[in-house]
Amino acid sequence: MLKVAIFNFKGGTAKSTTALSLGACLATSKRKVLLLDLDGQRTLSFGLGLDGIQPTALDLLIKGKASPTETSVKNLWLFPGDLDLFDLKADADLFTPALSSLNGFDVCLMDCSPGLGVASVQAMLTSDRLLIPVLCEPAVLKGLSEAVQLVREERPGVPIDVLRCRYKPRLVVTKEADELLAEAVPELDYHLLKTKIPENVAVAEAYAHQQPVTVYSSKSAGAKAYRALARECVEVWK
Ligand SMILES: Nc1ncnc2c1ncn2[C@@H]1O[C@H](COP(=O)(O)OP(=O)(O)OP(=O)(O)O)[C@@H](O)[C@H]1O
Ligand SMILES: [Mg+2]
Repeated sequence: MLKVAIFNFKGGTAKSTTALSLGACLATSKRKVLLLDLDGQRTLSFGLGLDGIQPTALDLLIKGKASPTETSVKNLWLFPGDLDLFDLKADADLFTPALSSLNGFDVCLMDCSPGLGVASVQAMLTSDRLLIPVLCEPAVLKGLSEAVQLVREERPGVPIDVLRCRYKPRLVVTKEADELLAEAVPELDYHLLKTKIPENVAVAEAYAHQQPVTVYSSKSAGAKAYRALARECVEVWK
């Protein structure tokens, strides 16, 4: 099982939206996908209509053995978030033993909370790769370089993919951010994914309807972009 932490300590960069929609696209292309909602805010769980369901991701981490809940999307399973994740304290690695008790999954996408909570940091430390969603704003490199440097200190060789979300191609600031992101690749040593997820009203509406955008509005620009992202990830993650 490939473990991918969707990580950025900056808030609101579409981490949870990406976990939900990328997870759904990978599941639709015949992979068995496990989503771990590691955020006490439980945005991902709400987006699947499964907030409040047990066992939660915290149950899995603490008890070391629990079964995930099947979502409305075939092959897509979830350990929902838990308010008590905010209070998680751990001296040892909780993730490796908990995840090794789960069989049959191809990919595990871990939706980290913003900031540096215990669960997010442990996900960062124990995942096989990191996926960092960013917004193309003038300060894009500030948050990203801090996040990448933190990861590099702890995990020197771990592959990092950077994904541009809520992309607005016509804005000058977007083009400037694109240039900054490309220029920083040699120094920060991340992979800038080609697929960009556009700003798209269907993505936001899908969340309110508690469905992945590919289910809510299959032909929307957001759905097409997340399907393209899934295809690109399958290639890059080989
Ligand atoms: N492509 C998109 N087009 C339009 N709105 C989007 C898109 N992606 C995400 N959003 C909206 O942006 C907001 C933030 O997204 P999301 O909750 O996924 O971010 P996050 O990084 O998980 O936030 P947090 O750091 O609080 O966990 C949400 O309201 C979501 O619906
Ligand atoms: Mg989130």
